[in-house]
Amino acid sequence: MEPSFWHQKWQLQQIGFHQQQVNPFLVKYWPGLAITETSNVFVPLCGKSLDMCYLAELRHGVLGCELNPLAVEQFFNENDLPCLVEQIAEHNVFCADEVRIYQGDIFTLPESLTADIGGFYDRAALIAWPEAMRQQYAVALARLIPANVSGLLITLDYPQDTLKGPPFAVSPDWVETHLAPYFTVELLECTDVLADNPRFVNKQVPWLNEAVYKLTRKA
Ligand SMILES: C[S@@+](CC[C@H](N)C(=O)[O-])C[C@H]1O[C@@H](n2cnc3c(N)ncnc32)[C@H](O)[C@@H]1O
Repeated sequence: MEPSFWHQKWQLQQIGFHQQQVNPFLVKYWPGLAITETSNVFVPLCGKSLDMCYLAELRHGVLGCELNPLAVEQFFNENDLPCLVEQIAEHNVFCADEVRIYQGDIFTLPESLTADIGGFYDRAALIAWPEAMRQQYAVALARLIPANVSGLLITLDYPQDTLKGPPFAVSPDWVETHLAPYFTVELLECTDVLADNPRFVNKQVPWLNEAVYKLTRKA
């Protein structure tokens, strides 16, 4: 989607993707990645996700990237985290003790910023892109994740012709075709979550699978 689409969503606070609680898949599967507790974790397209608070509480340094400034301001205000703001090249950096968010475009984020991460977490980032941009995002993610670093990817899959995204459907085949060249891919769980998603039920989407993958960047 174009930046203007997301800026408008944040301006109008049409942020149905934002979850009021920590994502259950994150809680269930993050500990199994055994990522060193003090290492930094990259959260692309982070929004104002509370998942960043969960990761910070595990004593990770959180390094987010988010296009919209209001989203970033809301994250720090709503979580009572005083932050400093500085500009580094094209990005404004909002920085609190445990969370640092680069506000700006993920496609221009220098890989030097993520060179020391020990993990990453993608929820509702890959599925935010339509097909052509999703392929570009996959390349950008591979560029930003150093070799041997693992993370979680959470996707949704449904018959795309029944609903206009975002979120866009991402199938296991898509993940295999476009991410397996860069990452070792392991499907951890796939569940039908249709009943929990009234928007999809109302549009008579017949099924809706939420999947969580462990990805490890190949050397
Ligand atoms: C579907 S939301 C997901 C947010 C978050 N991951 C969550 O789980 O709540 C996608 C987010 O990506 C941001 N975004 C869109 N394009 C971006 C870009 N080019 N660079 C960085 N962030 C972007 C949007 O502003 C939006 O907050």
